[in-house]
Amino acid sequence: MHYILELGRNIELSVAEIISVYGAECLVSIHSEYLVIETDENVDIDKLGGVVSVYKIATEVEGFLEEKDMINFVVNNLESKHIGIESNFLSKSIIDNVLKRSKGVLKSKGKSVRFLMNTKTATILGSGFLKGKVEVYGFFRFAGKVFVAALEGVQNIDAYSGRDFKKPYRDAKLGMLPPKLARTMINLAGEGKVYDPFCGTGTVLMEALVDKRQVLGSDIQQQNIFGTKENLDWLESRFGTNNSDAEVFVADARKISRSDFDVVVTEGYLGKPKKGNESLIELRDEMQEIEDLYVDFLESLKNAVEKEVIVVVSVPVFVSNTKRIYCENLVEKLNSLGYSVSALIPNGNKLELEAQDSFLYKRKDQKVFRQIFRLTYIPR
Ligand SMILES: C[S@@+](CC[C@H](N)C(=O)[O-])C[C@H]1O[C@@H](n2cnc3c(N)ncnc32)[C@H](O)[C@@H]1O
Repeated sequence: MHYILELGRNIELSVAEIISVYGAECLVSIHSEYLVIETDENVDIDKLGGVVSVYKIATEVEGFLEEKDMINFVVNNLESKHIGIESNFLSKSIIDNVLKRSKGVLKSKGKSVRFLMNTKTATILGSGFLKGKVEVYGFFRFAGKVFVAALEGVQNIDAYSGRDFKKPYRDAKLGMLPPKLARTMINLAGEGKVYDPFCGTGTVLMEALVDKRQVLGSDIQQQNIFGTKENLDWLESRFGTNNSDAEVFVADARKISRSDFDVVVTEGYLGKPKKGNESLIELRDEMQEIEDLYVDFLESLKNAVEKEVIVVVSVPVFVSNTKRIYCENLVEKLNSLGYSVSALIPNGNKLELEAQDSFLYKRKDQKVFRQIFRLTYIPR
């Protein structure tokens, strides 16, 4: 089956997530924010942090699609009461016309339907897409071909923002991960039980539980462990997760004593909250402390596990007016510990995207960006 995926803001990170879940061989083509893939699996949008909507391709035609063919497609496929059309090339007036004429044909067949004029995700969700009340068709043109597709899934933004802003224990000073990014990181790590040794408010654990994983979480601060437990109880009551799949405890990530997990997904200390007036020397000194913490954590992790383990980790990047300050020597140090950085976008991929070993996750005006790495430790 061929699908068109509308990618999130961090397009390459989304592609890396899709490669990790469906394999690099699924890639067909990329056209700005749209990715075409082929897979025998059902694409489950609820699993993916970096995909906004998923369309299943019904047909593709070379050149142009006549208006009457679009109307036929809508009329022959529509089952519910509301229709919407999304397109990356049709003008609003053509879309209007297709909708009006489809409605006319359906009416003549005794079926009354309504239009959905704005097909943005929030409108689609608000109008009951998830309850099957609305059908959205997509007409996309990429590289001289027109694809006719039906919307299969939309990212449940309300659920993500609920888990972000409505959880009872929040601490903005801590630097909480956006849940969608946490979900992408979990997918980059692969299947199995997830351990977050710097769990903070428990964002990674929450997303992993929603993804039906077992989880283990620890933090050096007792109050964060109380808070994480509170959040996991809230999650269970709101999202029906199973807390018996979760264990959280106080521990120093530099002294890891557990090995009963499959993958590590984490974001360690991000440094003190930034005002923007810190000197370069202050920022460099703080980054050195952070680098030492990550190195100590990774050393203790490798001593605790006696098997291959994948670690997806977010490392801070400080942004001053003049410079970005990275954990410069981290990769070299962790290589010497026996970790290797595995490519998030592999070399020689079908889309001819540049190979990438890490990604910067950033938002305008942020003073701290996140650099995402996937590390593999293989015991010698
Ligand atoms: C950036 S926050 C993690 C935020 C988390 N990802 C979230 O979304 O809530 C880093 C966390 O690491 C914890 N921490 C700092 N040093 C630690 C250490 N040596 N061992 C374990 N946890 C530590 C802090 O208490 C803090 O909760």
